[in-house]
Amino acid sequence: MSAQARFQQALAMAATRVESALHAGLPDDGTRMARAMRHAVLNGGKRMRAFLVLESAALFGAPVAQADAVAAAIECIHAYSLVHDDLPAMDNDDLRRGLPTVHVKWDDATAVLTGDALQSHAFETLSGIDAAPQNVLALVRSLARAATDMVRGQYMDIAAETALVPLDLAQITDLQAMKTGALIRWSAGAGAVLTGNDPAPLYRYAEFLGQAFQIRDDILDIEGDSALAGKRLNKDAAAGKATFVSLLGLDGAKARAADLVDQAVGALDPFGARAENLRQAALYTITRAT
Ligand code: IPE
Ligand code: IPE
Ligand code: MG
Ligand code: MG
Ligand code: MG
Repeated sequence: MSAQARFQQALAMAATRVESALHAGLPDDGTRMARAMRHAVLNGGKRMRAFLVLESAALFGAPVAQADAVAAAIECIHAYSLVHDDLPAMDNDDLRRGLPTVHVKWDDATAVLTGDALQSHAFETLSGIDAAPQNVLALVRSLARAATDMVRGQYMDIAAETALVPLDLAQITDLQAMKTGALIRWSAGAGAVLTGNDPAPLYRYAEFLGQAFQIRDDILDIEGDSALAGKRLNKDAAAGKATFVSLLGLDGAKARAADLVDQAVGALDPFGARAENLRQAALYTITRAT
């Protein structure tokens, strides 16, 4: 089996594990809120953040049940960010993961509250982990910070749509490091934090990875297949989004993403062969169609 095939298998396994943890932990009383929360977080998604958590946890020998709970928490935060991202006041999207968005299936108020509830559910999940209390606290605190950074990046993304002067390279880098990078970075470092180890080398990897990940998302907006991506494409230019594609063009953005992947792979040197799935994940990030 090739290294890329082993990665694909690990990604699929991460999806299975996190979905079973999410399934068991989310409210399931048949109320509209419970149904909307489950719709937002249980229906598909690549589970890249869950995968990063599980690989990171495995590198540091964290117990599987603890790792699964951490993965469930970050997928709830991510799903919350998508539910709000899709609202009419933000990107105004009607399709996500091939299904109607929460505000389309129900209504705006339900989507606002679903995002809110997924966020607090994430922190309930994380704070309930049966690991050393100082490590759990460090995870909770760093996730709170990462989620705040994500929101601040989302604000910059929306503000850029109507900026009088287009954002420059440094400003777009900062924006994307916050809106997309923060949760990816936290995911990659989570196994180290959970076990009381230093997350710095994995943070370095994930800072490159997160940038490449968002550049690929912006490229797919132009040349992707909506049926594969499960969301509407060809929207960013008309909305006036500030992206590397808007600044560098498609070829420039692709070259930058490839360069970032090289740097991400290089940052994994300290981990040797044990980090092969994370290396393959970086390659996948800029070739993915979904
Ligand atoms: C989409 O994230 C939003 C971005 C940060 C680019 P993903 O591409 O990880 O979406 P899912 O979870 O696979 O649906
Ligand atoms: C979203 O970026 C980043 C988030 C924090 C949710 P996009 O707005 O480009 O993500 P998509 O294309 O809607 O998935
Ligand atoms: Mg957006
Ligand atoms: Mg969007
Ligand atoms: Mg996008």
